[in-house]
This record gives sequence, structure tokens and C-alpha cells, in this order.
Amino acid sequence: MGFDLASQRVSLLSLSRAYQWRSDTVLIRTCFSLFIIQNQNMNNIVEPGTAESSRLERFVHLLSCPRCLSTLDLAQTSLICQQCQRVYPILGGVPDFLSSGEGQCLADSLQGDAAQRMREEYLLEEASSTAGPKWDIKSVLPQIMLKYDADFRNGPARKLFEGDGDPLVLNVGGGPNRETPKEITLNISNFNNVDLVADAHHIPFADNSFDGVYSLAVLEHVTSPHEVVAEMIRVLKPGGYLYSEVPFMFFFHGYPSDYTRVTQEGMKLMFSGLEDVEVGMSHGPVSAVLQSANMVVPMLLPASMPVIRRLGAGLFRLLFFPLKYLDLLLRDHPDAHTVAGGFYVVGRKPT
Ligand SMILES: C[S@@+](CC[C@H](N)C(=O)[O-])C[C@H]1O[C@@H](n2cnc3c(N)ncnc32)[C@H](O)[C@@H]1O
Repeated sequence: MGFDLASQRVSLLSLSRAYQWRSDTVLIRTCFSLFIIQNQNMNNIVEPGTAESSRLERFVHLLSCPRCLSTLDLAQTSLICQQCQRVYPILGGVPDFLSSGEGQCLADSLQGDAAQRMREEYLLEEASSTAGPKWDIKSVLPQIMLKYDADFRNGPARKLFEGDGDPLVLNVGGGPNRETPKEITLNISNFNNVDLVADAHHIPFADNSFDGVYSLAVLEHVTSPHEVVAEMIRVLKPGGYLYSEVPFMFFFHGYPSDYTRVTQEGMKLMFSGLEDVEVGMSHGPVSAVLQSANMVVPMLLPASMPVIRRLGAGLFRLLFFPLKYLDLLLRDHPDAHTVAGGFYVVGRKPT
């Protein structure tokens, strides 16, 4: 089934969503929903016939124990491993593979100082975005100008959704928004639109489960990206496509922490288990420079004058953000990759 763009609501919001890790403010808003909304579904038991139960029905038969990869038995409010007898609760229709044992240390790592600082930033951002009427300069730019940084749906990732029938696609580190309504989202925390809580290093699905697998801005946040890539390939069906975006010249952003940057050559190496691999820039050099400048400018303004600081930073963004479209001139430049903001990779699992 093709990915029918016309049936999607192609608003500015969805365009920026498709490329949200490239925008620090949207990124902070998105990822820190993790801290705010993460427990909202706890304590609810899934009711048969609800939206939650039908989502779960789509993938429950593919789940396997993240520890021993054995089959899981579905009880009313939990999943029980046939082999090792571990019990995983289902909370609000969301299987939770992290609420006990080794998974608990990941939950603990969400509590650090950096996380707290960014949470406050997120709250500030939320407050300012709801404070008054919004006007988005991007809405007056012609669509073509946005093409460069909005191509999750139209770019190479569309291959994931082009299979016959109703492709089952896993979004590793997905949420709180869905890129498509049909995808299955896995994250370490139970915030909005997360279908299962699990660690990407131990994906709780049987081998060869998905027609497509992707991750956007996630591999830099995991402790062993190579292990996660191996897991993503394991759960992908032979012939299925994997797509991933990873930053290169991009500022530190801890969700819950931030460990890795990958060059274009590094991307090729990391995904060498795939065939027909294509690697390209997902985020251009000028955008990368602007993102860094957006981080530096507030640091140069006095912390004791928060209003001046925010006004100055906002003015800087407004004045300079159109420069990012210079990236259109660098799309095919042979050296652009040496200073690119990030890369995408797409490739197929060998049959
Ligand atoms: C920068 S955000 C990107 C979110 C989303 N993919 C997007 O593009 O909007 C990184 C996400 O990776 C998730 N994450 C971090 N470590 C993870 C892990 N070990 N397993 C699964 N998800 C993880 C975080 O919770 C966070 O939601």
C-alpha cells in the first residue's frame, strides 16, 4: 500500500513534526512530554473493545520476552514468559517491559540535573507558546522552501510504507506524536502515543516481525547504538526497509542523555548489515550552524535579566532563521557532509 500523502493533514505542524529533532524548541517540547505525561496511563487496565486493545491486538502475537526471546502468554493484565516466567504488566493497554528489574535503572536515569533543567526549559516553552496569538513565519514561505527539511514522508523513508497490504512498521523511540497512525511506537517511557514501553537494546519482538523499522533521533541517546541497530535488523522481515536519522553537527540534547554523533562514513559502517544502503544528509550545514548559534546567543546574554535574554534569543532566531534555506544550495555539494547537521540511512534487510 502506498503512503497516501493526500490523506494526511499536511499542515506546517506536521511538516515540522516530520523533522522535529532539527528544531531545538520543538524537540524540547516533544521529548519532555516524556517527563510530564509519562505516568498518565498507569493504573488503567485495558478494556476489551477499546482503541487501546485494538492497537495491542495488532502486535501482541509478535511480542517475545526481551530477556530470553521466548513466547509470551497473554493474561488479562500481563504477559508471562513461557520460558523464564517473567511477568510484564499491561498498563492502560500498553505492555511495560521496564517497570521492574533491570529496566528500573533506565527510569532512574530520567531524574538527573540536566533532565530537570531541560524540563524547566520545556515548561517555559509551553508557557510562552500558549501565552498569546501565534504567528509562524514559515506559514508564509512557499512550500518549496520547506522541502529541504520535511521529507520524512516524501523522502527515502516512504519505502517503509510501500509494501503490499497493510505494512506493519515499528517506530523505535517513537512518540509522543505518531508519524503515521498505523505505526507501532516503542519508547522507554509511557507518554502519549507510545504502544509499548521497552528498551531498544532488547526489543521485545520475535525475529522478522515487521515490514519496516525506523528511528528518528534516537541512536544518539542509547548507550550501545550498534546493539540497537542489530536489534532493529533482527525484528525486520527479510526484504523489509530500515530507515534511521542520526545527528552529526548537532548540540547536546539529553533524552534522557546524549552519547553519540555519527559521520556519513560511520552511518555506512553502522548499517553495513543492510543491502542497497543509501546515506544522505537529513540536516544541512547552515541549519546546523544556526542551531548552535541559537544555543550560544542566550548564553551570551545576562542570566540575571531573563526577559532580555529571551527577547534577544527570540530576535536572533527571527532574524537569522531564513538563512537555513541556504542549505538548498549545498544539497549536492561534495563537501557538505563534512559539516552536515545529520544523516539519514535507508536500506533493506538481506533476504
Ligand atoms: C530526541 S527524542 C526523538 C523522539 C522521536 N523519535 C521524534 O523524532 O520525535 C529521543 C527519544 O528516544 C527515546 N529513547 C532514549 N533511549 C531509548 C531506549 N534505550 N529505548 C527506546 N527509546 C529510547 C527517548 O525517550 C526519546 O523519546
